[in-house]
Amino acid sequence: MPLLEVRDARKSFGGIKAVDGCSFTVEAGTITALIGPNGAGKTTMFNMINGLHRADGGEIRFEGKRIERQMPHRITRMGISRTFQISRQLGDLTVLENVVVQSPSRGLRGLMKPAVLGEERDRAMALLEFVGIADLASLSAAKLSYGQKKLMDLAAGMMARPTLFLLDEPAGGINPALLDLIIDRVQKLREEGVTFLIVEHNMDMVMTVCDPVVVMAYGKVLAEGPPAAIQANQAVLEAYLGA
Ligand SMILES: Nc1ncnc2c1ncn2[C@@H]1O[C@H](COP(=O)(O)OP(=O)(O)O)[C@@H](O)[C@H]1O
Ligand SMILES: [Mg+2]
Repeated sequence: MPLLEVRDARKSFGGIKAVDGCSFTVEAGTITALIGPNGAGKTTMFNMINGLHRADGGEIRFEGKRIERQMPHRITRMGISRTFQISRQLGDLTVLENVVVQSPSRGLRGLMKPAVLGEERDRAMALLEFVGIADLASLSAAKLSYGQKKLMDLAAGMMARPTLFLLDEPAGGINPALLDLIIDRVQKLREEGVTFLIVEHNMDMVMTVCDPVVVMAYGKVLAEGPPAAIQANQAVLEAYLGA
């Protein structure tokens, strides 16, 4: 049984069929890429998997259980975390607080009660150390660079101890040194048992880190396979040139 199975998922916004009968699977233990030209429906697909958007049709199964009608916090508790294309950090809070609030048993209200912090605070600090920004823990999150926010988001998503981690453009707009760090951390987490589904435009990262690669275009899956086969796929090339 695949860890995640998407079957014939659909989502329209007004007249726009953002996701138009999309089917693919994510096997446990993989770092699977979801790529495709701008507007292909990748972010909308992520939003359906984690419950932010309710699918108009189709089925989404996680560990065999239907999730397409669950609320986001339920899906997080079931074991799916995600990051956003544009970091959604709470700028009034510190970096550490931004990570702590992502603990599924806490949230913002929990943060107000000092007594609840202990264990979660320790875990959040350990995760910030893991992504290399522990020294920034007490800084306002608004002060972080774009790349540092991506690292914070990675740590925050890990607070829920996900089985499946969805990353939306983790390499977007960050410098090569931070990109190497993010890739290294993702690979380390995979070794620890986390499965990844990654939307990414940086083809170096996709081709060296991800396998398999799923290609979306116009809301559908155009191709699926190992990176080398995808790179040699004529239909994929044309989809990118046409966009
Ligand atoms: N909330 C929304 N309201 C209206 N249209 C949307 C919304 N989200 C996405 N779309 C449209 O759906 C299509 C797919 O968008 P998106 O999923 O963001 O693609 P991708 O992430 O692959 O670039 C685009 O045409 C986009 O304009
Ligand atoms: Mg997108």
